[in-house]
Amino acid sequence: MCLLRYLLAALLLHGMGESSSVLHLDSRSYPRSLEKSAWRAFKESQCHHMLKHLHNGARITVQMPPNIEGHWVSTGCEVRSGPEFITRSYRFYHNNTFKAYQFYYGGNRCTDPTYTLIIWGKIRLRQASWIIRGGTEADYQLHKVQIISHSETIAEKMNRVVNQTCPGFIMADNPWEPDVSYDLWREENGCECARAINFAMHELQLIRVEKQYLHHNLDHLIEELFLGDIHTDATQRMYYRPSSYQPPLQNAKNHDHTCIACRIIYRSDEHHPPILPPKADLTIGLHGEWVSQRCEVRPEVLFLTRHFTFHDNNNTWEGQYYHYSDPICKHPTFSIYAKGRYSRGMHSSRVMGGTEFVFKVNHMKVTPMDVATASLLNVFNGNECGAEGSWLVGVEQDVTHTNGCVALGIKLPHTEYELFKMEQDARGRYLLYNGQRPSDGSSPDRPEKRATSYQMPLVQCASSALRSEGPLEESAQVRYKNTAEKQHSSLFLLTLFLVSICTVSNLKILS
Ligand SMILES: *[C@@H]1O[C@H](CO)[C@@H](O)[C@H](O)[C@H]1NC(C)=O
Ligand SMILES: *[C@@H]1O[C@H](CO)[C@@H](O)[C@H](O)[C@H]1NC(C)=O
Ligand SMILES: *[C@@H]1O[C@H](CO)[C@@H](O)[C@H](O)[C@H]1NC(C)=O
Repeated sequence: MCLLRYLLAALLLHGMGESSSVLHLDSRSYPRSLEKSAWRAFKESQCHHMLKHLHNGARITVQMPPNIEGHWVSTGCEVRSGPEFITRSYRFYHNNTFKAYQFYYGGNRCTDPTYTLIIWGKIRLRQASWIIRGGTEADYQLHKVQIISHSETIAEKMNRVVNQTCPGFIMADNPWEPDVSYDLWREENGCECARAINFAMHELQLIRVEKQYLHHNLDHLIEELFLGDIHTDATQRMYYRPSSYQPPLQNAKNHDHTCIACRIIYRSDEHHPPILPPKADLTIGLHGEWVSQRCEVRPEVLFLTRHFTFHDNNNTWEGQYYHYSDPICKHPTFSIYAKGRYSRGMHSSRVMGGTEFVFKVNHMKVTPMDVATASLLNVFNGNECGAEGSWLVGVEQDVTHTNGCVALGIKLPHTEYELFKMEQDARGRYLLYNGQRPSDGSSPDRPEKRATSYQMPLVQCASSALRSEGPLEESAQVRYKNTAEKQHSSLFLLTLFLVSICTVSNLKILS
């Protein structure tokens, strides 16, 4: 699939010079007054303000190569596919060794520790990742993995599963006891008993460190460590090389003071696993508008921000997806507007704390935001993606009548089976989590493909749906102008183009 697209890319490059002159013309002919009023509308909306704030990325700096030395902790109860409920406390030392705690729990509030893994090893940073721009690749080597069960029942279960995977590893007359740590894996014996609990540490293969000044206060720095993502299919976990990130860990030395979980996890060890403060599950109220809090990373080189509006009076939703070519979401490539209906299902029986939803997409518009994407869309003929050969940078087209857009891998109408949960952050704002996209690039279009873990949360920016999408469309034009001003060297465009071609083919909507 991708190979074919490289060929197309090569063909298209001939026309590229011409398209960029079209681009300039278009940018000049765009009426100034309209631009101004669009800008005003854009500024008025809190939601757009929040999205724009992260677009310019001013408060975040990325360390390349990252310095990971220090003690890093989870900021809350994390949900991994399966589901597994976990908190993490990782120490990286000056001599490139590390000691990592993974605390596992029976429930979604991380109040009931079941067992803990203690992982020792060595890590070596390698080159900047070219799979995920802005990330750094690393190799790791395990020295030792120990396990400690926190109850009689869990110890019995561990005896059973480890005995099944590694017969004879645990002596029948000397079974594992609770509150005692045992080797699950050791460099010397190389036994693969860690497979019994599906253990892999491949998250250390992709690393990113961000520094962020909170509330514009130069004294209040927080540092975040992003490690590689975990495959959504637990059976693939051992073989998966990360291509996006898990929720970040925070540097314990200068964590956000409102993070109570950070403090609890920081002080914990295998004999005193962290017990997070109990909280009730919030009932999901989707009504209102929600935006991304940061530039999000999708497997396969996609960077994006999202803006959703839900109308619970008539169960309809609208989503705006802004795609970018860079990890701080500065250079837009295309945006998608989608809308449709949704229905609420039951509390998930599989993922404690989650609620099931079904989403339908039946209407869609696409706006190419750079020359590369516009050219790509123009290659497709007939009724595969809007009007043939008519795509211009910054100009939105409805693709509903062509049943979506083949070039972007979108087919309408489309149904997705979703998992949601809601939480409140330390400042009392509502956070909305929706299901992690399947790591194999497919879409959750059958109930059995419904996620068991979550993406980065969206934050509520308006509690009721205020206005129609008018300002959104215009704001796209405003940003288009910025893009037009930033013409890159053709070499850069070439790279970008090849990347975005493979990227958009993997795009899945409703993410
Ligand atoms: C690396 O440093 C840590 C912490 O100072 C120490 O505990 C560990 O023994 C050292 N490992 C090696 C191989 O030097
Ligand atoms: C492991 O399995 C074998 C065979 O089923 C059984 O005889 C043995 O008692 C088991 N050991 C433990 C520690 O459960
Ligand atoms: C649903 O309600 C919203 C807000 O009241 C409205 O803007 C929208 O047009 C309605 N959609 C449909 C399909 O009725």
